[in-house]
Amino acid sequence: HYDWLRREHPVYYNERHDFWTLSRYQDVVKAVRTPEIFSSAKGVGLDKRYGLSMIAHDPPDHTRLRKLVIKAFTPRQIASYEPQIQAIIDGLLDDVLAKGSFELVEDLAIPLPVTVIAHVLGVDPEYRRDFKRWSDDVVNFTAGNAPAEAREQLRESWKEFCDYFSDMMEARLRDPQDDVVTILAQAQDEGDSLTVIEFLNFCQLLLVAGNETTTNLISNGVLAFNEFPEEAERLRRHPELAKHMVEEVLRYDTPVQLTYRTTTQDIDIHGVTIPEDTKVALLWGSANRDPEMFDKADRLDITRDPNPHVAFAAGIHYCLGASLARLEMRLTMETLARRMRHLEIDPDGGCERIDTALLRGMQRIPMVFEPA
Ligand code: HEM
Repeated sequence: HYDWLRREHPVYYNERHDFWTLSRYQDVVKAVRTPEIFSSAKGVGLDKRYGLSMIAHDPPDHTRLRKLVIKAFTPRQIASYEPQIQAIIDGLLDDVLAKGSFELVEDLAIPLPVTVIAHVLGVDPEYRRDFKRWSDDVVNFTAGNAPAEAREQLRESWKEFCDYFSDMMEARLRDPQDDVVTILAQAQDEGDSLTVIEFLNFCQLLLVAGNETTTNLISNGVLAFNEFPEEAERLRRHPELAKHMVEEVLRYDTPVQLTYRTTTQDIDIHGVTIPEDTKVALLWGSANRDPEMFDKADRLDITRDPNPHVAFAAGIHYCLGASLARLEMRLTMETLARRMRHLEIDPDGGCERIDTALLRGMQRIPMVFEPA
């Protein structure tokens, strides 16, 4: 479909759901770098979800928020968490070995990002179980697809989440620790700081934007190596390619396939006019397979360099968690290679994809393995 869109209809109108799509790399990048025409302020979904967080703001509001939170996510700050992330991955694999069976998504790809974010935020270990429940509930609450009878429970979880994190913010102001909540609580820019509400919305955004996306990246990586076993072998012989591998999996099987913008004026692209105040889907997944940009775009090539993929978007909303996601993915793949003598997808296991056009990922990947 992407191939057809890029060739035949680079500016396409989806009548049924009333939105436009841009599918070519150059068009998607140009749009995302023109936020004054392609606005995020009406949300990056088809509806108004995430309405309160920075992802759904334009300059100057977005610029202000981003300046206040950026320090917590610099590559250097994130690199300092490597030993703890490694320990979390090893702990999850210890459980797999003790149990003797391995379903990659449930046993590793889902618990890893939520445990890591709890750790980097500085959540007290005795609240980690609550944190997992809040995280699931807050994500479902934000997605707005929970049945009415479940909604009360979700609201309750959001309240507990807000109570816990606003108390934590106050505590960190009195007694700073080496964690993200301390950096956010202390964040200052020319006398400006985050309000409690902005802080809570940002914590919510971290869960919504960071967990399922990273889960899917890990699943997609395992799946891609199953499809291209020669590339898996190459990585085994050349572990120094691990960083390139992460970028190539992001490009080849992009976890966030699209996000939306809303036009602030009529705009002509390739002789087609997209009207003002219309939703436009930027197809990151298609841009990353554009043969005008990537040689042999439909092949996984872990030596690809340069690899200017847009899996983390581009411009002012470039993914704030990119360094963290990259680190989790690289350490996971390296650890699997080190601790498993043999690892493959169970040919009789029944893999299942998640059912949405927005995200690419897996629901289940049963594995067969032999520990090293
Ligand atoms: C923004 C992808 C992991 C936090 C974005 C955007 C994309 C993206 C495409 C831009 C959305 C838009 O502008 O329409 C991904 C992928 C991930 C990932 C593919 C994993 C493989 C994470 C993680 C975190 C995170 C781990 C946090 C811990 C954010 C935030 C934004 C964002 C806060 C909003 C930035 C802004 O508005 O300035 N991400 N993300 N993401 N991401 Fe990620």
